[in-house]
Amino acid sequence: MNIELIGEEIPLLEGIRTARAIRRLKPDPVPIALIRKVCEAGTFAPSGGNRQPWQFIAVTDRERRAYIASLYRETFTQYIQPAIEAAKAPDYPEAKRRNMKAAIYLAEHLHEAPVHLFVAGWTRRGAPQSQALFPAIQNVLLACRAVGLGASLTTAHRAHGEAIDRYLGLDPEKTPSIALIPIGWPKGRFGRPTRRSIDTCFFENVVPAQSKD
Ligand SMILES: Cc1cc2nc3c(=O)[nH]c(=O)nc-3n(C[C@H](O)[C@H](O)[C@H](O)COP(=O)(O)O)c2cc1C
Repeated sequence: MNIELIGEEIPLLEGIRTARAIRRLKPDPVPIALIRKVCEAGTFAPSGGNRQPWQFIAVTDRERRAYIASLYRETFTQYIQPAIEAAKAPDYPEAKRRNMKAAIYLAEHLHEAPVHLFVAGWTRRGAPQSQALFPAIQNVLLACRAVGLGASLTTAHRAHGEAIDRYLGLDPEKTPSIALIPIGWPKGRFGRPTRRSIDTCFFENVVPAQSKD
């Protein structure tokens, strides 16, 4: 695999339109140089005052991933319960059901994902700067799409944020982790993301009264 060349060909807009949450991942290892490359794409994101507050921590150690997955699962199991109940209704939308199943699959198999990539960032005036990190996180997700890696954005670990941050060697007061991106080679095929039409959310000058949410 030529790390320098991989992913350099895909047109930007095509990559954006076809990037989606890929939660079914092979346990096979991923070269750390490739993870470094997708994180480097993250560093080209905008940030307030160009402060670039990000840190990327790639957890590959099996034991560490098992511990992180156990905490993630604990939170996620509670979080998803209402959706599991709602999905018992026969008219529950199929797309939502598929998304829920994929999220449950990830929670059950998180320990197998070969890379747990955490994105953390400096606080500013005592507050976490999530807004300064999400553009970088999206760049990482798009770079994963470009190089053929499966990835998804998760935040459920935040319920155990302090414990996980300390475990990663981060000071939760100074550089809390904001996102956990499980990364690996995709298992099976994945379709295009389903999104509502731009016609439902694009307006010129004024939002018509009947369109307001
Ligand atoms: C701020 C944020 C937090 C998210 N947290 C989680 C999470 O904890 N676990 C998870 O499985 N997905 C999480 N997601 C992923 C969304 O559920 C996913 O982007 C959505 O289902 C669309 O998937 P698609 O791109 O495959 O259509 C999160 C997304 C965002 C933007």
